[in-house]
Amino acid sequence: MEKGNEFTDKMNEKMEIKIFKDYQALSEQAASEIEEVIKLKPDAVICLATGESPKLTYQLLVKKLIDGKIDLSDCTLIGLDEWVGVPPTTEGSCHHFLYKEIFSPLGISENQIHLFDALSGNLFLECQNMDKLILEKGDIDLMVVGIGMNGHIGFNEPGIPVDNYSHVINLDSTTQTVGQKYFAHPTELKKGITLGLKHLLQAEKVVLLANGDKKASIIKETLEGPISIDVPATVLRMHLNAMVIIDEEAAGLLSEKTLLDSQTASNV
Ligand code: PGA
Repeated sequence: MEKGNEFTDKMNEKMEIKIFKDYQALSEQAASEIEEVIKLKPDAVICLATGESPKLTYQLLVKKLIDGKIDLSDCTLIGLDEWVGVPPTTEGSCHHFLYKEIFSPLGISENQIHLFDALSGNLFLECQNMDKLILEKGDIDLMVVGIGMNGHIGFNEPGIPVDNYSHVINLDSTTQTVGQKYFAHPTELKKGITLGLKHLLQAEKVVLLANGDKKASIIKETLEGPISIDVPATVLRMHLNAMVIIDEEAAGLLSEKTLLDSQTASNV
């Protein structure tokens, strides 16, 4: 099945691609996808990424859930990753983002929230506890993820094995540089703690969000290049229920064939 870092068995290439006019439209669709999962399964286990890509989605989702008086008290919410050594109170940490955009506005109670403690003296134990929690919950119902400029998902950096669960990783130089955009001051971003690609592959459903022309090249590689751990997001093409929701700018380099497939899949 494997050839170098590539996976030659592409039998499961079923990824649904939805292309929207702009960031607003893709975010509205993504918020609806999340809302749908919660309505269908009130005790859903949902893993949330942070970053610019899902930010508007979460703001729209909060409004939908409040307006619809949708009860979230049985949901479990998991953070995808965190910068090791960055305090949770720092603007730029994944903790800070998730509390600001989702947990606080929705009044989610602490016992529903599971985030890596990236200041822990025992990060290995943090990983073990997260994996144990997910196992006890019986897997993740929905993972909402972004994609890095290097094709990472969470902090699953290029070259990472597909059979990893939670782990601590040395961050790729691209991630260290790009990550500065979240912080008010230059911040040392050497390591990350993250759920693994195995979690992604085992999740019931994965929704990947990307917008803007800066993502066009990595989206093309993800959807049209070889499935390889050199571009970790490509492994989503081995997932049976993965959806990519992007805007026209992020879709800007896709081939005619991919564009046709995506229109057929989503009628958008
Ligand atoms: P972004 O980050 O949504 O801020 O572009 C994506 C990522 O690095 O995973």
